[in-house]
Amino acid sequence: MKLAILSRAPRSYSTQRLRTAALDRGHRVKVLNTLRFAIDLSSDEPDLLFRGKPLSDYDAVLPRIGNSISYFGTAVVRQFEQMDIYTPNTSGGIVNSRDKLRATQILSRHNIGMPATTFVRDRADVVAAIERVGGAPVVIKLLEGTQGIGVILAPETKVAEAIIETLQSTKQNVLIQRFVKESKGRDIRALVVGDRVVAAMRRTARGDEFRSNVHRGARVEAVQLSEAHERVAVRAAQIMGLRVAGVDMLEGDDGPLVIEVNSSPGLEGIEAATRLDVAGAIIDYIGNQVAFPQIDVRQRLSVSTGYGVAELVVQGDADLIGRKLGESGLRERDITVLTLHRGASVIPTPSDRRVLEAGDRLLCFGKLEEMRSMIPARKKRRARVKKLPKHPIHDG
Ligand SMILES: Nc1ncnc2c1ncn2[C@@H]1O[C@H](COP(=O)(O)OP(=O)(O)OP(=O)(O)O)[C@@H](O)[C@H]1O
Ligand SMILES: [Mg+2]
Repeated sequence: MKLAILSRAPRSYSTQRLRTAALDRGHRVKVLNTLRFAIDLSSDEPDLLFRGKPLSDYDAVLPRIGNSISYFGTAVVRQFEQMDIYTPNTSGGIVNSRDKLRATQILSRHNIGMPATTFVRDRADVVAAIERVGGAPVVIKLLEGTQGIGVILAPETKVAEAIIETLQSTKQNVLIQRFVKESKGRDIRALVVGDRVVAAMRRTARGDEFRSNVHRGARVEAVQLSEAHERVAVRAAQIMGLRVAGVDMLEGDDGPLVIEVNSSPGLEGIEAATRLDVAGAIIDYIGNQVAFPQIDVRQRLSVSTGYGVAELVVQGDADLIGRKLGESGLRERDITVLTLHRGASVIPTPSDRRVLEAGDRLLCFGKLEEMRSMIPARKKRRARVKKLPKHPIHDG
């Protein structure tokens, strides 16, 4: 394949390793400075110029977009997507992972452990927010912080309030997060490629620092992840739309707690700690997937008027329970089942012989009118029964 690595740091360890790994495998590879692209929307088809000249043909692109150029960088990746060039990390995935609030919002419905987090704007809501995540000591985070900058541990509610007020007065948005004491000064970085963890390390902060960022002097060591950690890391990356990702997890008493999904994970620390060929694994994965450029399913499928994607649930009143999928009548109603979710497992393109069970969730493409009656009623929001420390919360 011919691969473009988008990077502004051609000499950095990660870029060099990726480039060499590609060459070693007989691929053609170029490192292209992300900022030298021009996105061209003047002709019939989406196009890209590089250094003012038409870009030659590429089969795949590996974006390594730094935080400081997120907007332009993700626009370039989006253009590659429009041109049907494969990228393991979508522009949407990169955008989602850049902002800690956005990432937490997206992951929160998928049963992925995360430290209790809350986001408020009005001063009047700050104290209740702190209590909601368990009270002080509490972690305060700038939405777009990196390398531990903008991650603060406030020992008391009063101090937390003052910090939040100060940050907000300078127009910075902050998250309020439970301090995961049991993981103080330690976290785990899992390097996810495709649907597996290819390497993992533990980072341990120096002294009584609670942040285990390597930039703050943390030590790193290889770790063998539990199956739970691996599963969580892979799912978090997949949900974010990233096939190459560094997933950071705290080690909570009740299992892994994801704090961050990084779309351009550095390779130096993890390759040194684990002595594994992470760069090679990334290139192998891209080589394998290059035939499958990103397709925005909703965008493409909804072009057929009256058709769309919906999730149907096999419920008591429908006469689907115990029936074979082929005899369910769905096909006749112009409904195609793409996947079947049963408990924690997913069955892709289930066969006609598959017998439906109560609670099965069918992800379908089909005629919207035919599917309407089978869409479950909206879940009533559960009454909050969580024990709240000290002040009760009235959200009337
Ligand atoms: N809720 C928490 N409880 C305990 N420790 C935490 C918590 N959140 C973060 N930490 C510690 O602080 C460190 C930095 O936090 P985080 O990874 O969220 O921000 P960052 O490193 O600045 O961002 P990025 O990883 O994008 O560079 C973590 O590696 C972890 O050691
Ligand atoms: Mg971090």
